[in-house]
Amino acid sequence: MTQDSIRTAIVTGASRGIGAAIAERLARDGFAVIVNHAKGRAAAEAVVARITAAGGQARPVAADIASPEGVPHLFDAAEAAFGGVDVLVNNAGLLTLSPLAETDDASFERQVALNLGGVFRGMREGARRLRDDGRIISFSSSVVGVYQPTYGIYAATKAAVEAMTHVLAKELGPRRISVNCVAPGPVATALFLQGKSDELIQKIASTCPFSRLGTPEDIARVVGFLASPDGAWVNGQVLRANGGMI
Ligand SMILES: NC(=O)c1ccc[n+]([C@@H]2O[C@H](COP(=O)([O-])OP(=O)(O)OC[C@H]3O[C@@H](n4cnc5c(N)ncnc54)[C@H](OP(=O)(O)O)[C@@H]3O)[C@@H](O)[C@H]2O)c1
Repeated sequence: MTQDSIRTAIVTGASRGIGAAIAERLARDGFAVIVNHAKGRAAAEAVVARITAAGGQARPVAADIASPEGVPHLFDAAEAAFGGVDVLVNNAGLLTLSPLAETDDASFERQVALNLGGVFRGMREGARRLRDDGRIISFSSSVVGVYQPTYGIYAATKAAVEAMTHVLAKELGPRRISVNCVAPGPVATALFLQGKSDELIQKIASTCPFSRLGTPEDIARVVGFLASPDGAWVNGQVLRANGGMI
């Protein structure tokens, strides 16, 4: 395979959690992967090491997805290393829980900058720079639909991601680029677990028909399907991957 023909994926926020599992899954499926990180350089390097040890190709790339330069830098790195980009996974995200009345501007702005601004810039860059027949897969959450107390700003950012997904799917149809969202229920990562007691985690898990939390690999399988040729006819959709919880 020549360097020009390698199918390439960018995964934002791939140093740990769901993003790391997606990077490893896409690498197993034959993609060269840009493993983006913010603070977690060593963790991203460990993801890349696992991929290369298994015979895949990957590069760790630092970029703050909440900043305007973040996503364009990832495309520059992917094009320099692998010749182009076929799949963009807008995974990086952040959750801060608080009742609206107690939410300060800084918390609002951090969540909007990463969860919405990062995905907007990812979609814009993807629309401009993905090869034809590509994929844009962004992250919503199953909280969109249930709207529990304390999730106001987070749910608002994710609902906006779903809205942009529906619009962009129509805009990019002529280039056969599909645009979808994955909306997980609770997944056992730092984002979900932090600040919750074991008792609360168990209580939440017990509300799932399968009586457990999701794993990063459960979600990576869904992304792997959407990125694969078998996923090509799924477009403009929100896949709620939550074990039937919501
Ligand atoms: N876990 C859940 O229950 C759940 C449910 C529904 C939806 N989701 C969504 O799934 C996605 C992944 O969540 P997760 O649970 O895997 O989260 P996580 O375990 O907290 O991991 C977050 C990842 O995002 C990266 N990140 C944070 N800020 C960043 C920034 N400014 N620029 C670039 N990367 C940044 C982190 O990188 P560093 O460590 O390098 O800083 C890390 O790799 C998010 O969009 C989240 O909203 C999660």
